[in-house]
Amino acid sequence: MFAKRTEHSIGAIVSTLQSIIAYFVGQGRQNRVPTRPSLFELLTAPEYNGTTMVNQFTLSHYDEAAESVRARTPHRPVIGLILGSGLSGLAGQIADATVIPYSDIPFFPISTVAGHAGRLVIGTLAGAPVCAMQGRFHYYEGYSMQQVTLPVRVMQRFGIDTLIVTNAAGGLNPSFAVGDIMLIEDHINLVGMAGVNPLLGANLDEFGPRFPAVNRVYTKWLRQLATDVAQERGIDLRRGVYIQLAGPNFETAAEVRMLRAWGADAVGMSTVAETLVAHHAGMNVLGLSTITNIAIDALDAEGQPSHEEVMDAGQLIVPRLTTLLLGVLQHLGQGG
Ligand code: HPA
Repeated sequence: MFAKRTEHSIGAIVSTLQSIIAYFVGQGRQNRVPTRPSLFELLTAPEYNGTTMVNQFTLSHYDEAAESVRARTPHRPVIGLILGSGLSGLAGQIADATVIPYSDIPFFPISTVAGHAGRLVIGTLAGAPVCAMQGRFHYYEGYSMQQVTLPVRVMQRFGIDTLIVTNAAGGLNPSFAVGDIMLIEDHINLVGMAGVNPLLGANLDEFGPRFPAVNRVYTKWLRQLATDVAQERGIDLRRGVYIQLAGPNFETAAEVRMLRAWGADAVGMSTVAETLVAHHAGMNVLGLSTITNIAIDALDAEGQPSHEEVMDAGQLIVPRLTTLLLGVLQHLGQGG
């Protein structure tokens, strides 16, 4: 009898605990994919593989987010734009704009960096129908690579087939100067090579293959178009290889020398993961880096890079980058 009662009490306690846990887990689920998982969640989530956090977004997550965007705007753009540090002002030129805060889109994280607004701006720019990300997500903010790249997949499900990615970058190529614009010809996915790749986890075949080829990521005809537009409008366009690091720190002098020796021309903390996911999903990609500072390669050299320097130089480059982007969009708006 006593044993039975104890068993009952234990059963009741266990079931209460289960309800409490289920309640909190349920809250987390309702509140979309948690952007800031607790240590408990990190260690217990089946997606946590011991090194990296991997969100297992499914096609229905991406579709739900895309559908919510679709429901909020009459526009059906095919060109996506990711506006990097200091460049988000360009979204202000989008005509007939629908503005959607990221917080209104299911599963979207929130941008936490100064200089990065957090909203989608959908409308017409230089006659081309665009969906611009005014502010992006970075790995260094604490998001998983799946969260960082979620908007790209959402854009693809929304109908975007061509993605223009911009960023601020440190110049590694000794011939580069602050204020240069670099056409990204290729990239080095250092973070991905180190095991933090947005394509980790179950492959979503609806987007692309399990083992995608990445030897032609930055679309050749778009590179040619940007080159032609730059020439047409008197803009000096540099070209080179971009390498993405995790950040948030800038590089040591030894790291700068190493990156240069590896063949990188510009270094930054974004773009590669987004581009990879776009390419996996069959999108055309154009990448442009603004050289906002020259990476310092000598020990004890004067000066140091800072976010403020990056933002200030970004402003210096905005007019030329805007001219270039508008020219590219004008051609795309006319059908390429
Ligand atoms: N290093 C890394 N990321 C950057 C830099 C840099 O020098 N400049 C702008 N983003």
